[in-house]
Amino acid sequence: MQNIEVYQNSFISYLEGFTVDKEPKNLYEPINYILKLGGKRLRPVLTLMTTEVFGEKATEAMNAALAVEVFHNFSLVHDDIMDDAPLRRGKETVHEKWDLNTGILSGDAMLILAYQLFENYDSQTFQALAKLFSKTALEVCEGQQYDIDFETRNDVTIPEYLQMIEYKTAVLVGAAMKMGAIVAEASNEDQNAIYDFGRYLGIAFQLQDDYLDAFGNPETFGKQVGGDILENKKTYLYLKTLELGSKSEQSSLIETMSDTSILDENKVDKVKGLFNNSGASNATQSAVKDYTDKAFTVLEALNISEDKKQLLRLFGEQLMNRRM
Ligand code: IPE
Ligand code: IPE
Ligand code: MG
Ligand code: MG
Ligand code: MG
Repeated sequence: MQNIEVYQNSFISYLEGFTVDKEPKNLYEPINYILKLGGKRLRPVLTLMTTEVFGEKATEAMNAALAVEVFHNFSLVHDDIMDDAPLRRGKETVHEKWDLNTGILSGDAMLILAYQLFENYDSQTFQALAKLFSKTALEVCEGQQYDIDFETRNDVTIPEYLQMIEYKTAVLVGAAMKMGAIVAEASNEDQNAIYDFGRYLGIAFQLQDDYLDAFGNPETFGKQVGGDILENKKTYLYLKTLELGSKSEQSSLIETMSDTSILDENKVDKVKGLFNNSGASNATQSAVKDYTDKAFTVLEALNISEDKKQLLRLFGEQLMNRRM
């Protein structure tokens, strides 16, 4: 096994060769733009690492890893439309740089390009990958719909929230790893265990994403800080403030979130103050740790060597401590 940067670099150089240099430009340029914009590349790295964990060369999983990253980037293009987001990876979002229709259609094309990459595998592997991918992609849509539905609901519960983030984010992290296991022809038992590891890591990852959306450093975060607050997202921070806050903190949160006369900047500052004072910020950080620990517990039961477990643990710890 190699260290994490080695997988990242070999994936990035493979991605370089994926540039779609075709007409019409207005369809393909936004695709190249979003794919080359950077990003942590964590899902494809997990696919490649998992393939090696189960004893196959990472290069065999390159196309599956690329499919996962192309799908992820498709979901970001459409997510940024749905979330009215101006910034992605420190640059303009696709629908801001071009327009709404461009974001919709380029996104659609990316979803198809992702599926097409599975054609590089023999029919048995193709079927297993496509089946997992279809199930996962549909769950992501379900999660995204819940996320939007929750914006206008005031009775969202923590279990509902956890289900929502499992679908919109965590299942893809699980699937990225399971695809690596499929390419390596790991046993069904190992495939399912690594999926669960990824799924728990994915839940921790989205909790941390919620935290950073409010408390990330605008210089390095790459997205609009406070975007979730301005979009009325029912994040863990929000729900925990309603659970842990005093009566006056609870009503202040509800009033501030629905206040249409307050300046965006003041709204974000005020709500962040409530997140901190109520204890919700700390609760979110402990939930990130709890779900990462759940992932590590699953890892213990896996039938792989200690050095491989150590590498996966290191990956989980780096995710937990990330600032972007
Ligand atoms: C952003 O994913 C969307 C979420 C599921 C939170 P990442 O944080 O992995 O985005 P990039 O690819 O690194 O930009
Ligand atoms: C993203 O959730 C989930 C998907 C893209 C499917 P967010 O809306 O929180 O992601 P960011 O914060 O915009 O990256
Ligand atoms: Mg978003
Ligand atoms: Mg979203
Ligand atoms: Mg977010």
